[in-house]
Amino acid sequence: MAKIKTSYFCQSCGFEAAKWLGKCPSCLQWNTFVEEVVEKKPSGTPDWKSDTAENKGRVNKPNLIDAIQYSEQERLLTPDKEFNRVLGGGIVGGSLVLIGGEPGIGKSTLMLQLAVTLVGLKVLYVSGEESEAQIKLRAERLYPAKEKINPAKSDCYILTETATQNIFKQIEQLKPNIVIIDSIQTLHSAHIESTPGSVSQVRECTAELLRFAKESGTPVFLIGHITKDGMIAGPKILEHMVDTVLQFEGDRHHVYRILRAIKNRFGPAAELGIYEMQGNGLREVSNPSEILLSQRDEPLSGVTISATMEGMRPMLIETQALVSTSPYGTPQRSATGFDTKRMNMLLAVLEKRCGFKLGTKDVFLNIAGGIKVEDPSIDLGLAVAIISSHEDMPISYKTCFAAEIGLSGEIRAVTRIEQRISEAQKLGFEQIFISHYNKKGLDLSKYHIQIKTVSKIEQVFNLLFG
Ligand code: TYD
Ligand code: MG
Repeated sequence: MAKIKTSYFCQSCGFEAAKWLGKCPSCLQWNTFVEEVVEKKPSGTPDWKSDTAENKGRVNKPNLIDAIQYSEQERLLTPDKEFNRVLGGGIVGGSLVLIGGEPGIGKSTLMLQLAVTLVGLKVLYVSGEESEAQIKLRAERLYPAKEKINPAKSDCYILTETATQNIFKQIEQLKPNIVIIDSIQTLHSAHIESTPGSVSQVRECTAELLRFAKESGTPVFLIGHITKDGMIAGPKILEHMVDTVLQFEGDRHHVYRILRAIKNRFGPAAELGIYEMQGNGLREVSNPSEILLSQRDEPLSGVTISATMEGMRPMLIETQALVSTSPYGTPQRSATGFDTKRMNMLLAVLEKRCGFKLGTKDVFLNIAGGIKVEDPSIDLGLAVAIISSHEDMPISYKTCFAAEIGLSGEIRAVTRIEQRISEAQKLGFEQIFISHYNKKGLDLSKYHIQIKTVSKIEQVFNLLFG
């Protein structure tokens, strides 16, 4: 009987070992090794044109950097402006883009919407998850008959197939301008024995698609699932192989979705696009600040507004805090859209530096709109919201905040302060609190919004609560 070759793979980083290991030597995770059947590709098996005549014996020679000729990367602009921005100005030919996100967040919707709106381009949408009829139904839901963009008119082909060799066969016949794969975890390559979604399968299928993208110059989009701890399922190695990693995130129960560039070889990372999930698909949100601020006439206690940056864009975000006496011995601390560890740090600073007794209180924090904020400039706004709720003293809704708080209660400077101030001014705020250290080089006379510079957290509370 022929011996089956197996190997052990770390499901977290893709590290390969000959025997089972408790701890991965590469990513130091425990209990991540799984045995997989691997069949090394027999030599001579044609892959994506890897053995064609023009590739055989091709050797790259070193070139003098000055002598290298290049043409300005031509970018394909999609009708979706948010998507173009996240990609750094449109789709680059031959690029491999991974779109990650939790199940049900809208990855398939986003890509199908892209596929049917790219009029004049041949798009191949390969689905291993849904049937043709399901996809057609979704497309019809996206664009009701009365709208201009009709899926029936677009040059979008649907293929339900999971074997990469068959997909390449179809690609060769159809010659699409763009290929979308939904999802990489459902694909399998005949060169590898292990099941679809396993580390070695995902890696091999991605490698084949990468070769195809680079050799044919066709952009390929891969949809990838995210595991419960927020990693793109399958190996981390996937992120190294692709050119761009986009993450689609948001709270499933809220309407807003954020498309974030985590890695981008063709543009700035940290760029992001905002969408609203409606009954008929995703709509671009071009002015996020206005939507994220809830409409109200009277100031409420525990609510403040922070001028944060999301990617390259300033965004005013409402933060809400609720501080109440804990009915149980152990107080509850919970934060939605914000790191709980950072919240605990803020609470410790408020207790130690400002003498607020919060140790026996329940504290709840919430970022309005169901979005996640990592920008530390939200610290000051959150601290003020906590104290505002604790003291039951509302803050004027014409005031906003943009500063980080350090462990000793100092107010620290944040990046791109001018953009934040301009955005606050544009939206009609009358006052903004920033760090004293941000004042350097800032032309205060340029703005008609009142700029309060502070260096200690106590100073802020004296100014606000007297
Ligand atoms: P889907 O694109 O299937 O998510 P993913 O591919 O990331 O798993 O989107 C799933 C959710 O989006 C589903 O719960 C229904 C909702 N949805 C809308 O609200 N409006 C729409 O027009 C569509 C197509 C989906
Ligand atoms: Mg899907």
